Amino acid sequence: MNAFEPLVDSFGRVHTNLRISVTDRCNIRCFYCMSDDHVDFKPREEILSYEEIERFAGVVARMGVNKVRLTGGEPLVRSDLARLVARLTAIDGIDDVALTTNGILLAEQAAVLKEAGLRRVNISLDALSEATFRRIARRDGLDRVLSGIEAARQVGFEKIRLNAVAIRGITEDEVLPLARFARERSLELRFIEYMPLDADGAWQGDHVLTGEAIRGLLAAEFGPLEATVRDDPAQPAADFAYADGQGRVGFIDPVSQPFCGDCNRLRITADGKVRNCLFSLTEWDARGLLRRSENGGKIDADIATLVRDCVAAKKPGHGIDDEGFIRPERAMYQIGG
Ligand code: 5AD
Ligand code: SF4
Repeated sequence: MNAFEPLVDSFGRVHTNLRISVTDRCNIRCFYCMSDDHVDFKPREEILSYEEIERFAGVVARMGVNKVRLTGGEPLVRSDLARLVARLTAIDGIDDVALTTNGILLAEQAAVLKEAGLRRVNISLDALSEATFRRIARRDGLDRVLSGIEAARQVGFEKIRLNAVAIRGITEDEVLPLARFARERSLELRFIEYMPLDADGAWQGDHVLTGEAIRGLLAAEFGPLEATVRDDPAQPAADFAYADGQGRVGFIDPVSQPFCGDCNRLRITADGKVRNCLFSLTEWDARGLLRRSENGGKIDADIATLVRDCVAAKKPGHGIDDEGFIRPERAMYQIGG
């Protein structure tokens, strides 16, 4: 078998989407992801270099991966991220490079990122009230995020999306302000259910503010939402149109409406471990191969085989609701969202 054949798992899911975490570091401390004080960052030498990331992406591009998203931690705290963007967009077969950021450093970097070929940006914005922002992020920074959003609009990315993690008892009052904010600016907004990936292990099922509950809040204000057809079955969000035709709003409901059946995503952590799921308990070490000093062609084929093994072992779903569900050892910032 050719080592570079498409990445099809045992359930027939074809993997074409790679999420690359470029750092586990972050400039804020959202409670659903990190701990406030005891953070466990990997030492520099364990983090993949841009050359190593590029090489890995080149191998999976030969296996059919055509979309890449950069995540963290917070990707913009890694120096000169635009350099990586430029290298990734130059890879044959990769036709879309996107970024997920908390927006704090975006105002400074939006222009160079755009120039490097970045097309789409997802900016995390859970709250528009300073107090709620601080309660979640455990740091200040709302103003900087808002400036980051403005800068992104000004440089004219193809698509700017706002991601709002929804937490019961905390973000209900943010739902309408966020919806208005996004509608006024013609930005896409997506609500994401809080998943059990917080470093503190505090998540409980009843902390999840479900997509359904949010749709209720939105419908009461803006009129009935109309479900739209998914353009791409592998996209995790269900999009709804507002009754007045002024835009759409999306829902990523991994807890209440798992979408694992159509997942096409593969991940590599900042320290070079390949994962087939956010919730996977096993990882495949690509860094060891990337750092082996041998013939390049042999290494590429070995990386391809490792990725194939990882995809082949993918489970049908995350199993959050299963009796024996075990949380992964790594928290969100150590995996990449
Ligand atoms: N549950 C849901 N979303 C999360 N994110 C981080 N941690 C969690 C969690 N536990 C989101 C971030 C960002 C994206 C990378 O993932 O807010 O939008
Ligand atoms: Fe940082 Fe993102 Fe984690 Fe928040 S969710 S602490 S912004 S890595």
